[in-house]
Amino acid sequence: MVIRTSNPLAYLEEELQDLRARGLFRWPRLLSGPQEPVATYDGRAVINLCSNNYLNLANHPRLKEAAQRAIADLGVGPGAVRTIAGNMAIHRELEEALARFKRTESTLLFQSGFSANAGTVAAVLGKEDVIVSDELNHASIIDGARLSGAAKKIYPHRDVEAARRLLRESQGAPRVLLITDGVFSMDGDIAPLPDLVAAAEEFGAIMMVDDAHASGVLGRQGRGTVDHFNLHGRVHIQVGTLSKAFGGLGGYVAGSQVLADYLIHRARPLLFSTSYPPSVAASALAAVRLVQEEEGIIARLWENTRFFKEGLRRLGFDTGGSETPITPVIVGDEARAMHLSDRLFEHGVFALGIAFPTVPRGKARVRTIVTAGHTREHLDRALDAFARAGRELGII
Ligand SMILES: Cc1ncc(COP(=O)(O)O)c(C=O)c1O
Repeated sequence: MVIRTSNPLAYLEEELQDLRARGLFRWPRLLSGPQEPVATYDGRAVINLCSNNYLNLANHPRLKEAAQRAIADLGVGPGAVRTIAGNMAIHRELEEALARFKRTESTLLFQSGFSANAGTVAAVLGKEDVIVSDELNHASIIDGARLSGAAKKIYPHRDVEAARRLLRESQGAPRVLLITDGVFSMDGDIAPLPDLVAAAEEFGAIMMVDDAHASGVLGRQGRGTVDHFNLHGRVHIQVGTLSKAFGGLGGYVAGSQVLADYLIHRARPLLFSTSYPPSVAASALAAVRLVQEEEGIIARLWENTRFFKEGLRRLGFDTGGSETPITPVIVGDEARAMHLSDRLFEHGVFALGIAFPTVPRGKARVRTIVTAGHTREHLDRALDAFARAGRELGII
């Protein structure tokens, strides 16, 4: 007979002790008040470089008004899973607006970008199939691959030749999916999508891109990497999120009508989990319209990005290969990255320290994202804080 310890969850405490010993135990800071370029964390107003609120829409009056109107007209909940309780018209309207925006035949809403990736990969692949995936692809892609049971073949980051080799050796599989993040969430670099698309076409693979960090950021009016590289019609599955540049919550899959028809029957997050409230769809719809009407908003994001990135580089920080508003300050050592983040907070800037398993070991960093809402004065103050903290810790 097996004698178990009195607390079967004791191993959790052991793991936590290990995190504490390595200086990696932390609870999220508490945000009181709205998500803004200057926000109140742990009771202190700081310059906020932590959000994915690229276009500063999370507290935008137009989006809030749309949500409030939807609550008044449509209530607070959709009642049940869409395939059971029916599609609310506002969800449909958002899907149609997103399809026009993405220039695809259809889009299908998911509760989040995470469930869109995981649910789609798991639905389109089976255990005889192969997924060829960049080593830095998002966790939701990895989880989708695990759920599908397909063989996972991982290529080094952005290495198209390695991806081609994996595609070539997978030709016997019934289906092969080549998948990449459009913009990599921890490094801010852009996938070599034109070459990946050409490789997928050469080997007859399905091409899928996760554009969570490109939606609202890259391409005309923020249509994403497919538009940025002018690859319309050549990427079979695009995932986007409404939780970052679009300021709210939710994910979507854009592609053919056949893809949408299939996913509504097979994607488990759609079949077994309730959709989000109508107010969330209404504010997302307002956001999609706003980015198409307000020409300057994305230009402001990029002006701020160039200014801040250049400032960090001039100070002597290692910002890796970032090409987008995600700018990592790579420190290497995990505890040191956390110290830098803490010291920045003391100097009035919130920029999160990120360590393994979110980034590879030895690549710990402080991750920054500026938004369209930061002023030049905010960014000057933030650079000043980086200079002070970086010198205090001997990083620069
Ligand atoms: C690359 C990438 N894909 C997908 C997601 C998931 O998006 P969401 O937050 O909408 O679930 C994220 C966000 O964390 C991401 O960074």
